[in-house]
Parts: sequence; structure tokens; C-alpha cells
Amino acid sequence: MFAPIISVETTKALAQNLIVQPPTAGLALKGRIRVPGDKSISHRALMLGALAEGETHIQGLLLGEDPRSTAACFSLLGAEISELNTDSVRVKGIGLGNLREPVEVLNAGNSGTTLRLMLGLLASHADRFFTVTGDSSLRSRPMSRVVKPLQQMGAQIWGRQNNSLAPLAIQGQALKSIHYHSPIASAQVKSCILLAGLNTQGETTVTEPALSRDHSERMLQAFGAKLQIDPETHSVTIHGPAQLHGQQVIVPGDISSAAFWLVAGAIVPGSDLVVENVGVNPTRTGILEALEMMGADIQPENQRVVAGEPVADLRVRYNGPLQSCEISGDLIPRLIDEIPILAVAAIFARGTTIVRDAVELRVKESDRIAVMAEQLNSMGAKVTELPDGMEIVGGTPLKGTGVDSHADHRITMSLAIAALNATGTTTIHGAEAAAVSYPGFTTTLQEII
Ligand code: S3P
Repeated sequence: MFAPIISVETTKALAQNLIVQPPTAGLALKGRIRVPGDKSISHRALMLGALAEGETHIQGLLLGEDPRSTAACFSLLGAEISELNTDSVRVKGIGLGNLREPVEVLNAGNSGTTLRLMLGLLASHADRFFTVTGDSSLRSRPMSRVVKPLQQMGAQIWGRQNNSLAPLAIQGQALKSIHYHSPIASAQVKSCILLAGLNTQGETTVTEPALSRDHSERMLQAFGAKLQIDPETHSVTIHGPAQLHGQQVIVPGDISSAAFWLVAGAIVPGSDLVVENVGVNPTRTGILEALEMMGADIQPENQRVVAGEPVADLRVRYNGPLQSCEISGDLIPRLIDEIPILAVAAIFARGTTIVRDAVELRVKESDRIAVMAEQLNSMGAKVTELPDGMEIVGGTPLKGTGVDSHADHRITMSLAIAALNATGTTTIHGAEAAAVSYPGFTTTLQEII
């Protein structure tokens, strides 16, 4: 036994302004840097560790606010989780089907992944009652995308606006297996249903319109679950109930965090940066393909496989002005979190970049289409909102001003990179939001300038 030292509440940093004032000449970004652990993999390692028999050891866990929310929730559900650090986190699982009914409300903070994946597990734990909530952003994000398929499996879930918004209440049930055809390519929806299926008798299948990130599939298999994957139809079947066994998980650096430095290196003249130890799972590398289309010079070095996930060091060298491109279709789920920073790259590209088929951006931590267009335009960019994307006219110089993160981590960091190539001073209000996925972002920014 080790003492559980996970607190009930998510950590909340104090409000911060990030001030970026680039030198008037000669700002070349140089160095070798590392980014924190992958957020998606960190959540899943904590969750599967909590559900497994025996101990799981996690190396490289992201110490951001989102995984802290997952750790806090699963501690309340009965798992024993040691102090969170990047060296080694021990999770003593309680075994599938054994989640406890907590006295407290489960609070997922800002994290959609925590809430949606957890819902699949809670709904399938019979004879237990759970209440879940999140921060004001998460309480406004759509939950019907997971509530509806769970209801088809027999789940009992109640919430505001016809059971579509948190706070939600769940009466756990023995569920029935289904084949769910998801209308959206969403790893959160897919994973929620697979986790419900994990604890349900029979075969549960999810078919999605395009392939979303497959970390759940990889990790469920590594922990001992039986899955069938059909890459042609983007279908995954899980055979439940499955017994999971504690594992050693090594979390690679998050390509979504590396994306900020890749774009920075591609737009700041004279830059030569290596981002080490980045997860390059093909369901996540759309950003590399988009930047290649735009003419960026990004070379993967030292490619290897670590604990079932492909990893590489990514070297970016400034290669002259970028070209515009069109980003749409099946590429979108493979770079959905990188579109804000790609919009920044597009400002410094020749021609007009179009992003389509990305209506999902409107229901992220903020409406990322509206917020990016508004904030970048206030710096002098020419970004036009489309219902499902944006049109960015490249080549207009940016001027520093006061901008707002709208409490969205990826907006904060995208605006900071835009500010590197602006004249004058940019002040990003609400910059503490970066800690959701990238504590230490500002320190690295200071180091490479
Ligand atoms: C995530 C899936 C994506 C992504 C999010 C993390 C995950 O969301 O935007 O940051 O870990 O499963 P959707 O599944 O809603 O696209």
C-alpha cells in the first residue's frame, strides 16, 4: 500500500498575462527541446491502470491540469494513485467492474476526454450512482454524442437540456452490446463506447466515418483486452467483459504540444530546432503532412517504437516563406487539435489557406474558429470564418496588441507563436490556460529565443 495523495479538486493556476516582445531583428529559434507527455495517452494510462488487476507504472505522464482531473476522479472511484510526477506514477487498479460509488461529485475540470471516457465506464457499473461535472467550458460542451449511444446500450443518464449537458447523473446498469455507427470521427466517442463495451457481455462495435486517434485501441490491447480492428471500415470491436492486467506505460512527448515549436521553427527566419521524443502515431501526424504541403522542412530523426507507440525526434529548419494549402476531409481528425496553430502558419504563407470539414472546432474548449479569427484579426491578420472552418489570406504583417485566450490552452499557445512574428508587444490575457496541456510552455519559449 502507498498513501493516496491525489486531491479532489483540479489545480487552478492564478490568472496570468503572457507578454511577448520579439527583438526587432535576428530572432532565430535554436536548440533541442522536449515537450511534456502526450495528453491522450496520459489519460488512458491512468484510466486503464485504475481498471486493471495489479499495478501499472507510468513513465512520462503529462502533469497538466487535464490528467490531474482524471487522476482525481479515478482516485475517488477507488484506484490508488501515487503522487503525480514524470518519473514514475504507480496506479494500483481495482479490477474491472469494481469502481466504487463515490460520495463526492466527480469533477473533470476542463477535460472532455476525462468526462466522456469516464461516462462509458460509469454507465456500465451496475447498482452504483454517480454524478459528474466540469468547469464552465466543459459544462457547455455537447455530451449527447456519448449519452445517446450509451442510452442505446441501456444506460440511464440524466442532465440539463435533454441529458446533453453536464452536470450529469448516472445510474449504473448492466448494459447490452451494440454496433454503433458514429456520425463523427471522434476518439472520445469511440473510446467511451469501447470502455462501456469492456465491461459489457458480448461484442461491442464502433464504426466511425474516418479514423480518429487509436490510442485506446493500442492500450486496451496492451492491457489484455481482445479487440478486432477493421481498417477498411474504420471499425473496432471489443469482446467484453475483459480482464485487464497492470502494465508499464511509457508516454511519448505530445505531438500536439510539439506542433507549436514546429510552426515556430517554420515561420521564424534562421530557426533550427529539434523537438525530441515526440509520439508520431499515424493517427496524429496530420500536422506533419499539412506543414509538408506548405513547404516546411521537418525531418524525423531517430525513429523508434516505445511501448507500442511510434516515436521520433523532429527537426525543423526555416525553409523560406510557406505556401498556402487546403486542409479538409479525412485529414481533419488527424490534426484536429493543431488547427489553431496551423492558422498561424497560414498567416505567414503565400496565398489563401482554406480549412473545411472542421465544424468540431466550434465545440472544443472554446469555439476555436470564432476565437482564432477574432484574435488573429485583432493583430492584423485576414481570417474569415466559414461555418466549418476558415479562410486565411497569408502575407499580412501582424502587429502586437492585447489578445485573449478565452481560457483555451491551445489558443493561448498559438497566439504566443503568432506574437513571435509580430512587430511590437503582444499581451495574451488568460495565459494560465496553457497549463491544461503544457505546463512549462513559457519556460521553453524563453529558452529557445
Ligand atoms: C482526444 C480526442 C479529440 C481531441 C482531444 C483529445 C482524446 O477529441 O480533440 O483533445 O484523447 O480522445 P474528439 O474525440 O472530440 O475529436
